[in-house]
Amino acid sequence: MKTKILMTRREALVLSAGAAAAVSASAQPAPFTLPKLPYAADALEPYIDARTMEIHHGKHHQAYVDNLNKALSGQTRIAGWSLDELLRRLGEVPESIRTAVRNHGGGHANHSLFWQLLAPPRQSGPAGALQKAIDAAFGSRSALEEKLKAAGMQVFGSGWAWLSLDAQNRLTVHGLPNQDSPLMENRRPLLGIDVWEHAYYLKYQNRRADYLDAVLRLINWDFVSDRFERLRA
Ligand SMILES: [Fe+2]
Repeated sequence: MKTKILMTRREALVLSAGAAAAVSASAQPAPFTLPKLPYAADALEPYIDARTMEIHHGKHHQAYVDNLNKALSGQTRIAGWSLDELLRRLGEVPESIRTAVRNHGGGHANHSLFWQLLAPPRQSGPAGALQKAIDAAFGSRSALEEKLKAAGMQVFGSGWAWLSLDAQNRLTVHGLPNQDSPLMENRRPLLGIDVWEHAYYLKYQNRRADYLDAVLRLINWDFVSDRFERLRA
């Protein structure tokens, strides 16, 4: 096992700056491109192995991007829509490509967020307004983590466990199938955990619970806290 060094505050801020750039990229229209990982493929070892990261990012995420661009090709009416807009206004997307946009647009958006949500383990947790909101909604950070784990375990087949803000700015934990995004049901995704088998099978096989425990140790709470401030504004 490799020795891991806890991330400094400065390194965390560099990651957060990269995350902000990636978030703003979701406001750009097609053609979409694969965002770079904000860390090396082996940075999350031993919790997530490098091979899984390489395939997950370089193959699965790339395929969502490619298939989304293919679906949108020649669709002039919605050519200027951002990724977020495509998902929020899915019902207005031409019916002939709606399922493709749902699956591949959702896949691109969800994974673009997921990479930013992870970081090598560190000591920090939810901060500022997010910490207060978590305590008010769930009682504690550990109670939230239990709920996220339960939501991830309850997804049958492929999907995601989410912490979202609803229309009333309330924090909610919920699961969604496939690559559906909280944006499709008028929620703003704050934190999502991929529970597709492609996210963990090489290392964890059928042990989704162990994978969820590992991912919860990798959450970049500085990023989530900053995101909460932006999204609730
Ligand atoms: Fe995935």
